[in-house]
Amino acid sequence: MSLSDHPRAYGTAAVAVAFVAGVLVTLGFKDLYPDLERRYQQHKRYQRRAQGGPTPAGGGVAPRRSSMMFWGSGPVELEDREKTASEAHLPPTAGIVDGIEGCIGHTPLIKIHSLSLATGRTILAKAEFLNGAGNSPKDRVALSMIQAAEEAGLLVPNRGDTIYEGTVGSTGISLAALARARGYRAHICMPDDQSLEKSDLLHHLGATVERVPVAPITSPAHFVNLARRRAAEHTQSAADENASRGFFADQFESAANHQAHERTTGPEIHRQTGGRIDAFVAGAGTGGTIAGVARYLKDPNTKLKLSNKNADANLRIVLADPQGSGLYNKVRHGVMYAPTEREGTRRRQQVDSIVEGVGINRVTDNFEAGRDLIDDAVRVTDVQACSMARWLVEHDGIFAGSSSAVNCVAAVVTALALPEGSTVVTILCDSGTRHLSKFWKKVAEMGLEDEPTPDDLLVLLAIEKPR
Ligand SMILES: Cc1ncc(COP(=O)(O)O)c(C=O)c1O
Ligand SMILES: *[C@@H]1O[C@H](CO)[C@@H](O)[C@H](O)[C@H]1NC(C)=O
Repeated sequence: MSLSDHPRAYGTAAVAVAFVAGVLVTLGFKDLYPDLERRYQQHKRYQRRAQGGPTPAGGGVAPRRSSMMFWGSGPVELEDREKTASEAHLPPTAGIVDGIEGCIGHTPLIKIHSLSLATGRTILAKAEFLNGAGNSPKDRVALSMIQAAEEAGLLVPNRGDTIYEGTVGSTGISLAALARARGYRAHICMPDDQSLEKSDLLHHLGATVERVPVAPITSPAHFVNLARRRAAEHTQSAADENASRGFFADQFESAANHQAHERTTGPEIHRQTGGRIDAFVAGAGTGGTIAGVARYLKDPNTKLKLSNKNADANLRIVLADPQGSGLYNKVRHGVMYAPTEREGTRRRQQVDSIVEGVGINRVTDNFEAGRDLIDDAVRVTDVQACSMARWLVEHDGIFAGSSSAVNCVAAVVTALALPEGSTVVTILCDSGTRHLSKFWKKVAEMGLEDEPTPDDLLVLLAIEKPR
């Protein structure tokens, strides 16, 4: 049978061929399309980066997109490659990040089961110990301060420039690691009452370490004043325009500190909770964390920025303060201390607590940047902090440092004052491994590791449930 003899058969065959071809083409296109979409977004992202746009650590929130195309009878939503926080910092190719800086930020928000169960409120903790350079939130701050100095021309890579800082440890560790990554040296001044593993680590990271006796902030021998002076001496010794400089990072006063948290930590928390957060609880060493996060979360534009209608207008910002720190009184009563306790008159300039990293007896610029936004403060004793640290190991397998334990105690107190079902977010700053020789030694000495922790958290912490 020839086709010319049977025009109707020919027509039917042609329609069938066209139909099959159409299906094949569209199927092929459907398979191809997500790939094209991804490559297009990837291209855009690299362009953004080349133009100095958002980078993983410094850039805040990756923009959310969702592309639609009509497919068959209904719209098909293509997978959003930037949707999840844990994926957001990964280039779309092979999970490769750009240097150690690429391991900073986008930390998980952990639901702490035991604390949530014990309080009837959801207690979440930002796992800041997972920042990949110095393993604390100070990675964000160190990178931010270095970037600001580079932009201002104060640091030039591979010229022998040295970053000087006064720190109880964490910021020094982050600065020492990032200094090497970016072509600088680090010189860290720290008080000699801090745990030895921190100064050892600084040595291993190639930093010069000066451990100095504890002195009041009014004394030139105070570790922060010493670091400032060392930086100035370095710069003054520069023989010509090409000689190396000293840069004083100045985490207590530098705006790049709280800005790092306002730009990255705050937005991450907002996105990870979908804006459903009733309280944010954190201690203050420099105050950068609490101020930066508060500034972002309490910014009236935050709700609009991520078009989130669930954000709680009554969000409470609560300071977690160790015993002996003056900030609790500053927040609760507007005054720092009794006159007899004024800094400069006390032998120890640091607070009288086993806790490292938080608590201070002066108001720094970074704390001041968020002071108006802080609604309340919770004072935490060393005994409570040690008990909490032990509880977290026993119930959740979380081995935390001392400031993290203080945060968790204050998070529990804050949660109990809120309605059931509320959500409280706090910070796990660093790992217990940074605190073996002081804090965890004390936990052991207290006998807390000899017997199981009591089943009742409130009994353990000696706190009363508000009626
Ligand atoms: C271990 C640790 N946790 C918490 C903090 C406090 O953070 P911030 O300085 O942002 O107040 C510090 C600060 O030095 C720290 O070292
Ligand atoms: C500094 O470096 C530039 C470029 O290498 C050079 O031209 C200039 O002479 C140097 N200045 C001094 C004082 O050595």
